[in-house]
Amino acid sequence: MKATATANANIALVKYWGKRSSDPILPQNGSISMTCDGMTTKTTVEFSERPEHTVMINDEEFKKDEKDIHGHIDRVCKLAGIKQHARIISESNFPVAAGLASSASGFSALTVAACSAAGLKLSPKELSILTRQGSGSACRSIFGGFVEWHRGNREDGSDSYAEEIAAKEHWPDFRMIATIVEAKKKPVSSRGGMAQTVATCPYYKDWLATVDEDLKAVRDGIKARDFEKVGSTAEFNALKMHATMITTKPSIIYWIPATMEIIHAVRQMREDGLQAYFTMDAGPNVKVLCQEKDISEITDRLKDLDGVTNTILCKPGAGAKIVNDHLF
Ligand code: DP6
Repeated sequence: MKATATANANIALVKYWGKRSSDPILPQNGSISMTCDGMTTKTTVEFSERPEHTVMINDEEFKKDEKDIHGHIDRVCKLAGIKQHARIISESNFPVAAGLASSASGFSALTVAACSAAGLKLSPKELSILTRQGSGSACRSIFGGFVEWHRGNREDGSDSYAEEIAAKEHWPDFRMIATIVEAKKKPVSSRGGMAQTVATCPYYKDWLATVDEDLKAVRDGIKARDFEKVGSTAEFNALKMHATMITTKPSIIYWIPATMEIIHAVRQMREDGLQAYFTMDAGPNVKVLCQEKDISEITDRLKDLDGVTNTILCKPGAGAKIVNDHLF
């Protein structure tokens, strides 16, 4: 009753921002992401006779927080009809909780490993529905390449799942450079931030009114490998999401001076004829979208910026999968 899985983080090109239900987690809007091969979590789960679940993440014991890992494991136990408890060890190769989607790779690797250790055989769609109940954006990391999470309409969430739009091989020269400006834990979680936005932002309905056209543009752009269309729509979508964050009460501003430095640098790159766009999540780090041909010039320019401490280069990556080398 032991299994290990790896999963990659994903970065949204059209963002999930806001829930219509928190139990089960169901989104207000659909979203599209790229699964990123450079940002990986590996998780081993073993069920045995023990008094409770124990969870170690990057060598530290996990303290219960709003992302309820214990509750998620209970969900898997209930589905599998088992009474044992889990020992869980998880390691990520990138900074956690810094707006770099660590919960996406974390919850998808956990779900895949736990289901396998519990003897549950679920389809990828069922795995995505189960993963979504731990953390919304994580349901997209079950799949590789470019992935759409459908909003769905049903209250039980049976039509709110992720699926692959295009395999990673479809667009092998698409790149995302994650810039690390501050690898600290973020002040407001994405979960708290989106709840506050839905509750208090006067423009939230305007955000929702524009998401479907962004989904269509990015979906069509990915299918046609139209970089300008995907990049420009993703950048505008991220700015619209941040506009809703900034106009909540109290205001949530994830940007720090280094964030602005990178935004302006990317705009300058475009003035200079480079094809580059940016996106940002619930944190100060900026992800730069570009193509293989421009990687060295864009990376050099980013590394020259005072606020950038590191960069992580990502290609379209694989979905979550079972591997044989356990962490214990
Ligand atoms: C800004 O998936 O972390 O990264 O469902 O509450 O766990 P919960 O939220 P989470 O939110 C991610 C928000 C985002 C946008 C995105 O990834 O689509």
